[in-house]
Amino acid sequence: MLLEVKDLNTFYGESHVLQGLSLNVAQGELVALLGRNGMGKSTTLKTIMGLVKSKSGHVIFEGTDITGFPPYKAAQAGIGYVPEERRIFPELSVYDNLLLGIKGGKIKNPNDPNVWTIDRIYSHFPKLKERCNQQGRFLSGGEQQMLAIGRSLMGNPRLLLVDEPTEGLAPIMVQEVRNVLEEINKKAGVSILLVEHNLKVALSLAHRVYLMGKAHIGYQGSVEELRNNQDVRAKYLEV
Ligand SMILES: Nc1ncnc2c1ncn2[C@@H]1O[C@H](COP(=O)(O)OP(=O)(O)OP(=O)(O)O)[C@@H](O)[C@H]1O
Ligand SMILES: [Mg+2]
Repeated sequence: MLLEVKDLNTFYGESHVLQGLSLNVAQGELVALLGRNGMGKSTTLKTIMGLVKSKSGHVIFEGTDITGFPPYKAAQAGIGYVPEERRIFPELSVYDNLLLGIKGGKIKNPNDPNVWTIDRIYSHFPKLKERCNQQGRFLSGGEQQMLAIGRSLMGNPRLLLVDEPTEGLAPIMVQEVRNVLEEINKKAGVSILLVEHNLKVALSLAHRVYLMGKAHIGYQGSVEELRNNQDVRAKYLEV
C-alpha cells in the first residue's frame, strides 16, 4: 500500500474533527474523498501532510511511519500537496513559481524520464508554457490551479493530495483541470488523493471513493457501487 492512514484523531482545540479516520491509497490509484461541507476532508489532507498534528493514529507512506513529520519532511518523503487556496506567488513569473517547487533546491538528473523538469511540466500544461514569463497574478483561476499542480509535481511526488482543484472555476477550466489530473495519474503514474465537490468530475476520475460523514469515513466503495447506491449518495452527498 502506498499510503495507509490508520485511526487518526485530530482536534482543533476541543473540537474533535477526525474521529478514528482510516483510509488507503494503493500505488497508481486515484482515490476521491468526498462529503458535505465541514466534515473534515481538508483536515484529513492537512493531517497527512503534517500541517495539522493528530493526537493519535498513524500515517504510513511507502512503509515508513511519517506520523507527525513536519510538512517539508512529508514532501521529502514523496507527498505533494495542492491546497485549496493554491498559494502561488503573484509577483513571480510562472517559470519562477515552478522552480520554487524543486525541493531543497536540488535538481535531479534531468535525463531520468521519471523526474519532473520544467519542460516535462510544459508538455502536460501547454498553457503554462505560453505564459511562462508572466507574473502569477495575471493568470486566470484555472491557470493558477494548473500552476499550483505543476509546481507540486516539480517535487517529484509519488502521491499528490489535491484539495478542491475545480472550485470556483469556469466550466471549460473545470474540464481542463480534470483532464490534467487524469493525465498525471494515468500517463505519469502519480497516485492521487482528491477532495472534490464536483461529483461528476470526481466520479469520472476516481478508481475508488471514500465518503465522509462528520469526522469519520461513512462509506467506501468503487465508483460503480456508489453510482448504484442512491441511499448512500443521499446520506452523504446530496442535499
Ligand atoms: N483552523 C481551524 N480551527 C478550528 N476549527 C476548524 C479549523 N479548520 C477547520 N475547522 C473545523 O473543522 C471541521 C472540519 O473542517 P474541514 O475544513 O476539514 O472540512 P471540509 O470537509 O474540508 O469542508 P469544506 O467542504 O467546507 O472544505 C469543520 O467543522 C471546521 O469548521
Ligand atoms: Mg475543505
